Amino acid sequence: MKINENYKKLEVSYLFSTIAKKVNEFIRNNPDKKVIRLGIGDVTRPLCKSVIEAIKSATDEMGTFEGFRGYGPEQGYDFLKEEIQKYYARKNVSLDLDEIFISDGAKSDLGNILDLFSTDNTVLIPDPVYPVYVDTNLMQNRNIIFLKADQQNDFLPMPDESIKADLIYLCSPNNPTGAVYNKSQLEKWVQYALKNNAVILFDSAYECFISDSNLPSSIFEIEGAKSCAIEFCSLSKTAGFTGTRCGYTIVPFELNFDNMSLNKMWLRRQTTKFNGVPYIVQRGAQAVFSEKGQKEIKENIEYYKRNASLISQTLKKHNIYFTGGIHSPYIWLKCPNNMKSWEFFDYLLQNIQIVGTPGAGFGQNGEGFFRLTSFNTCENTKEAMERLDNLLT
Ligand code: MLT
Repeated sequence: MKINENYKKLEVSYLFSTIAKKVNEFIRNNPDKKVIRLGIGDVTRPLCKSVIEAIKSATDEMGTFEGFRGYGPEQGYDFLKEEIQKYYARKNVSLDLDEIFISDGAKSDLGNILDLFSTDNTVLIPDPVYPVYVDTNLMQNRNIIFLKADQQNDFLPMPDESIKADLIYLCSPNNPTGAVYNKSQLEKWVQYALKNNAVILFDSAYECFISDSNLPSSIFEIEGAKSCAIEFCSLSKTAGFTGTRCGYTIVPFELNFDNMSLNKMWLRRQTTKFNGVPYIVQRGAQAVFSEKGQKEIKENIEYYKRNASLISQTLKKHNIYFTGGIHSPYIWLKCPNNMKSWEFFDYLLQNIQIVGTPGAGFGQNGEGFFRLTSFNTCENTKEAMERLDNLLT
């Protein structure tokens, strides 16, 4: 037996597991200290009423002979896909139901989609970025080219014609920087992908935070994108589903390469390796798209945005450079006094018991930066900012 040697190239543990381990150790040694977590992007607002009602009623259905469901369609129930179809129609994007695949969240599909692509492909990944893109490609030994995202390009790297890539990861609004591509920037990426016969893997998990209707919240708002892009979205941040698990992936029919349809290949992959999202969860997800559900989830998103604004105000007061926090739940800041990312992580944890995410964990160009999330409660965010204000003063 030979193991997959590629795992040797990975960091010993996943970024957020490493942080959790460090924080748990701190808590064990300092049981009297109140730690405030602004690290992993995990939500704190409960599921909205519409979702709970739908989940309860679906649970009741499952307890009856008439309403009981066993295996469902691997690609999701039509009742949910129809809602997602309408959601996209409101963005002027027309989708066929069979282009929509219900998933248990963006993370799994972003990793699993690699089953469709040769390991000979070259992958273009912005740096800093969500670590899942890099780790999943390392696991399969693909050649990775990193694209520098920094203050000069507002953390929005653009295509470089001298680089030939086959798969391109874009995340907008970006995790971790909160930067958002505008329409003309995404048009350039689509043109680059079409010219190079490449596929864009577009992660739109934070699209619900976009508050400027001129900014695209789906790659499919860009002409030509259906011939070169797959989109991954999730209800985790949109509707507080981090623990409930539901998302969706759009694989357009137009994606045909070497006489093979990526849509058909993904269907084949999912029907073979995935048994679908639970019926009860899909009923809850359906309720997110109802008029009442949309109103309720927007209230939660606004709540998190107010937290983001609290964080931004504190940083402004101390003249600390940052991005994000407007169309994103993340605030990406430069560590004061040229501290390194992990050094600042330890400094905050030890001195004021605030947990953030070291920028270096998102790639080499993240070194010297730090990410805070707005997903904690308003009370805790206020308290954390008071502590930070005092520390920096
Ligand atoms: C993050 O904090 O970057 C996210 O919560 C991680 C994830 O969505 O998997």
